[in-house]
Amino acid sequence: MNSSFLPSIDDGRAAVGPSILSADFSRLAEEVAAVEAAGADFHHLDVMDGHFVPNITFGPMIVSAIARLAGRPLVTHLMISDPGAWAVKFAEAGSDLVSFHFEAIETGHETVIEALRDAGCRAGLALNPDTPLERVRHLLDSLDLLLLMTVFPGFGGQAFMHEVVPKIEEAAALRDSSGYRYLIEVDGGINEQTAPLVRRAGGQCLVAGTAVYRSADYAAAIAAIRG
Ligand code: DX5
Ligand code: ZN
Repeated sequence: MNSSFLPSIDDGRAAVGPSILSADFSRLAEEVAAVEAAGADFHHLDVMDGHFVPNITFGPMIVSAIARLAGRPLVTHLMISDPGAWAVKFAEAGSDLVSFHFEAIETGHETVIEALRDAGCRAGLALNPDTPLERVRHLLDSLDLLLLMTVFPGFGGQAFMHEVVPKIEEAAALRDSSGYRYLIEVDGGINEQTAPLVRRAGGQCLVAGTAVYRSADYAAAIAAIRG
């Protein structure tokens, strides 16, 4: 179970996932259809609980509504304090992959990953910009995806943190030398200017909220980010 759910990666190209956080929620169905028509490879769904991050977005009900609308995979990003209680609910709501934050819990990451697998869902682990890769070395073997944040999570529209680029390179080199199979997703401040840096470093799934949903031309924005 690796990139087969994102055909563009199998073809050696980056996959672009607009972050629904920046969509117009009063026209959610239209927005989902519009980014798909514009070439989105997946939808990135940002779940925030007002506790792990200082913002609240949506829960499994909205994910399952989006699942009914979407024709592309749903890649869910949990920014919540208790992934053990919730991850499987987001899998059951129709996510193709669920990532949770390493920093959210002290122990038990393996249990959450296994629970997602048992629910038939891919599992990802998200790292804040200041969490080094070496802290999660023991988990890398079990991951379908590693999500490297290039902003501190909580809000769309923040500036890309260039200092994370070496960590993307390190994650790609480590996977290739160690035989791990995780995809590398990068999230935060990605636009036409910063996307080439991410792709060059080894980022495969590029998330973009503002740069897609706040642009006048979704197709042009997605094409520019994909490169
Ligand atoms: C940040 C979220 C990101 C965000 C990206 O907390 O996890 O996915 O929506 O938005 P932009 O692309 O505007 O930085
Ligand atoms: Zn996100």
